[in-house]
Parts: sequence; C-alpha cells; structure tokens
Amino acid sequence: MTDTLTLRTPDDWHLHLRDGAMLRAVAPETARHFARAIIMPNLVPPVVTAADAAAYRDRIMAALPEGSQFTPLMTLYLTEETDPEDLARAYASGLITAVKLYPAGATTNSASGVANFDKVRPVLEKMAEIGCPLCVHGEVVDSDIDIFDREAVFIERVLDPIRRATPGLRVVMEHITTMQGVEYAAEGGPELGATITTHHLVINRNHILAGGIKPHYYCLPVAKREEHRLALRRAAASGDPTFFLGTDSAPHTDANKLLPCGCAGCFTATNTMSILAEVFEQDGALDRLESFTSLNGPKFYGLPANESTITLTKGDPVAYPDHIDTGDGTVTVFDPMMPLHWQVAD
Ligand code: DOR
Ligand code: ZN
Repeated sequence: MTDTLTLRTPDDWHLHLRDGAMLRAVAPETARHFARAIIMPNLVPPVVTAADAAAYRDRIMAALPEGSQFTPLMTLYLTEETDPEDLARAYASGLITAVKLYPAGATTNSASGVANFDKVRPVLEKMAEIGCPLCVHGEVVDSDIDIFDREAVFIERVLDPIRRATPGLRVVMEHITTMQGVEYAAEGGPELGATITTHHLVINRNHILAGGIKPHYYCLPVAKREEHRLALRRAAASGDPTFFLGTDSAPHTDANKLLPCGCAGCFTATNTMSILAEVFEQDGALDRLESFTSLNGPKFYGLPANESTITLTKGDPVAYPDHIDTGDGTVTVFDPMMPLHWQVAD
C-alpha cells in the first residue's frame, strides 16, 4: 500500500489573497504548500493597471513569512477601459501572467467587469498577438437564466463566439463546474485550459441546500448536480493536460458569510493538498495527482514545473484547524465532510 507520495511542489492557478489583514492571514496558508499562484485581481478597487499590479505584488511579498519562496503570479482585471498597451507592457516585463475577465455582476467585486464584449475586442486581439492568457469567469448574468445553467449558457453565447472571433487567444476556463464545461474544455485544443477547484470535487448542490442551508458551501459558480461533480472528478483524475488545479480559495470572514445575503466563496488554502490526495486516492488516481497539481498548469502557462518537491504521508486522520483568525475576524476552513489521511510533511 502506498503511504508516501512525493510530488513536484504544486501551484494554484486561481487564488484570492485579498488585502490588508486578510492578506496577511491567508497568504501563509497557501505559501506553506504551494510555490506559485495566479492571484485574482478582484480587490476593492480592482487591480486594473500595471501600476496597481506592481503595488499589489509588493503588498503580497510583504505578507509572506520570512524566507518564503512563494511567487505570486499577478493578473489584471479586464474592464471596458483597459489599455491594450499598458497590458502589453506589463506582460512583456513579466509583471503579469494573465488577465481576468469577469462578466459585470457575475460575482464578488465584479461590478467593474465587462458588460459589452465588443468594447474589449482590441484588448483581446492584443492578448492573442502577445500570447497573454485570458482567465475567464464563465457565467452569464442575465436574470432570465437559471443560476444552475449560467456556465453552460456562457460557453455557448459568450465563450465560443469570443474564441472563434479571436484566433490564437489562449483561454483558461476558470473553476468549471459542469459536464458541459468539461466537454468543451477537453475539445478545445492546446489554446484552451480549465481549472477545477478542490471544493467542486467534493460538494454538489445538495450539500449547500439539503437539510438546512450551509453558507460555507456557497460559492460561485455554485456547485451543481452530482453528475456534474462526477464529471469534474473524472476530468481532474484523467491526466488530460487541459485540466489543472485552481483552488479558487476565497476567504470571507464568518460575519460576512453568515448574513441574510452572504458572500460567495470557500476557503480551502489550509487543507487543499490533504483533500486532493484523499479524492485522488478514492478515485484510484494517486499517480495522476501530480499532473493535476504540479505539471499541467505550468505546461499551459509555458512555465517550468517546480524543481522542488513536497511529500505527503498517509496515516491517522489529519488534524487541521476549523477556522483561521485574521485581523478582520475568523474565516472558516472548508469542511470536506470526510476524514483526511494524507498530510504534507514539514
Ligand atoms: O465563490 C467565489 N468567490 N467565486 C468567485 O468568483 C469570487 C470569489 C470571491 O472573490 O469571493
Ligand atoms: Zn475566484
């Protein structure tokens, strides 16, 4: 029986680190096990210019524990006013690794996102020219579209037309949650990648809604039916280089989660690697965990895989905190509802 597992150090291709006291509390949680992460730009106000990204990167570096080797990979928040030349300079200098597209109103702090996709055509064309990836929050926001259909409708009405109109544009479908997302990504060729979160491999919509509402399982895109969760599990464990880890670990204080109109987001930075090892073992795919967490993402982004490694050991159920303390209040750590037996060795 396998009881130790050594992997190239993983990267997180979709992470929310926030700012201020929250940043200082959550950055060490990711930096403990991950070498790099794509940092989401949905701050208030958002990270829209190269200067914003440089200043945010400095604040992240200052929040890391002494001696940390963690590298934040910065993104710009695409708005209808984004300047293609500012973006191109930021990409050429290595300051940013990708650009994030939020449809206006789709999720937390997305009010500055894109409402009219024609307005961002010149930016998308510039990105295709220079090879800068576009990370996409793939949900339509039309009030007549059922929330559980928002991803599938986005693929058909927005994503596919954008990709057809912009040959060469490299796109990451972020946090896919449906079998339609899996199928579209798998057929998209080398210019299309897709991230899958830790929590969407574990929960379906029943976990949020059956037997009492569970705000800590509410995130966007919202978890779907069980058949979709199983499609995500197969995709993650397939070894297909299209699919890689983007935890979308999205901390909100408990006070902000437990409201009549609570915030969307699951905080998984603390126990992600233990959860993923458990999930991949359940699926008989421990030998493909490294592809998902450490190899496929760098390959898509044209970066080398990490040279360093981490080792997980299997044993008695792992103890991890049920919440972390931040200067802004407590943040609940995602509860996978199962004992976790794999621990990252120090
Ligand atoms: O659940 C989510 N939380 N989904 C997102 O798209 C945004 C994120 C956040 O920033 O809280
Ligand atoms: Zn996110």
